[in-house]
Amino acid sequence: MFAKVPFTGIGLKPSLGSVLGFVSGLIIMAIVSAIMVKDLGEEKESLRKEVDFMRNTLNRITKIAPLRLLADKNGIQIGTCVSSSHLADRDYVETLTREFSVVTTENELKFEIVHPSPNSYVFEPADRIISVAEAHGMKVRGHTLVWHAQLPSWIVNGNFAKEEWKSILREHILTVVGRYRGRIWAWDVVNEAVDDTGSLRDTVWLKNIGPEYIELAFRWAHEADPGALLFYNDYGIEEVNAKSNAVYNLVKELLERGVPIHGVGFQMHVSLDNPPNPKKVAENIKRFTDLGLQVHITEMDVRIRLPATIDELIRQAQVYREILEVCLNSENCTAFVMWGFTDKYSWIPYAFPGYGAALIFDENYLPKPAYYALWETLFSRAIRNSPARTETTGS
Ligand code: XIL
Repeated sequence: MFAKVPFTGIGLKPSLGSVLGFVSGLIIMAIVSAIMVKDLGEEKESLRKEVDFMRNTLNRITKIAPLRLLADKNGIQIGTCVSSSHLADRDYVETLTREFSVVTTENELKFEIVHPSPNSYVFEPADRIISVAEAHGMKVRGHTLVWHAQLPSWIVNGNFAKEEWKSILREHILTVVGRYRGRIWAWDVVNEAVDDTGSLRDTVWLKNIGPEYIELAFRWAHEADPGALLFYNDYGIEEVNAKSNAVYNLVKELLERGVPIHGVGFQMHVSLDNPPNPKKVAENIKRFTDLGLQVHITEMDVRIRLPATIDELIRQAQVYREILEVCLNSENCTAFVMWGFTDKYSWIPYAFPGYGAALIFDENYLPKPAYYALWETLFSRAIRNSPARTETTGS
């Protein structure tokens, strides 16, 4: 892939180098000065003006070259989950469509919402997300076909024979995937099927169909849309551990049996209390990509115990940067997707009481240090990978 050509340092145009230095400097200054202004208190009006000037300049630069443009120059997709309930918020849609190249449906394609009773499907909320994506040239990740959570009561309390369970799941997958055939880039076909000890999770699907439900789901999804990339997705598999070993063995076996699976999603819901070790994540990703699979970071957020301090926001930025770098350095890591982008709407405060501030924009859609860390990582690499460099090196 062109964008992942390693940087040799030869032929970097001085003008590009100085742009890079200038922008990196601005970012550092903006962060440092934000800290200073906070520490110095209200009376430092003149300093505040300088900081505002720097921030505005920086904002103008990032608007000319938003994340999605820079991600594209690096050969990857950058994305976020989207909830249809926020599509009336103009700032939400404006930021979403400016910055990201791929969206994941947050809840709208989960069984409970899309197939609430045996004979009814509700596609309207998912349709609304997908039409925004299509209108802005964004790809879509479909989430998720087979999961143990967010199931309707007719499934949770269902009393069917094994063959009936199979035909329910088959019909569900053929209908949902079939409806969006050709429009969904990648599907999280099976979500969280392995538990923390490395055994198959005790779910409605395992109980009623048996372990073959996983293989069947992939085959049915492929039948419904042969062009879609099909993923196994899970949390807590970022580094080598009992769970990721089990997922590795599972997908390896699927591949050996010719099951159509194309990738593994690393959710990457992490906490600043215990951030992932980038070297270990890279080692783990490598064994999956060595199987010929793609990897997507599918649901990244970095939760912080509230209230978050500036120091914590800067450490959070470092965690985002490190994982993006791991992805950029892994040949088959093709998407970096976060579980939302604004702290205004995030699942973290509900799922992890006392935690929040996990995303890259604050509640007012102002970029946080984590945004600048992603931006600067993509920007500096885009410049190093730019055709100008290749042309000069080639002569
Ligand atoms: C979460 C949503 O963000 C919430 O709105 C919902 O209430 C619960 O599910 N792993 C997943 C996602 O695969 O589907 C989950 O999404 C977050 C954890």
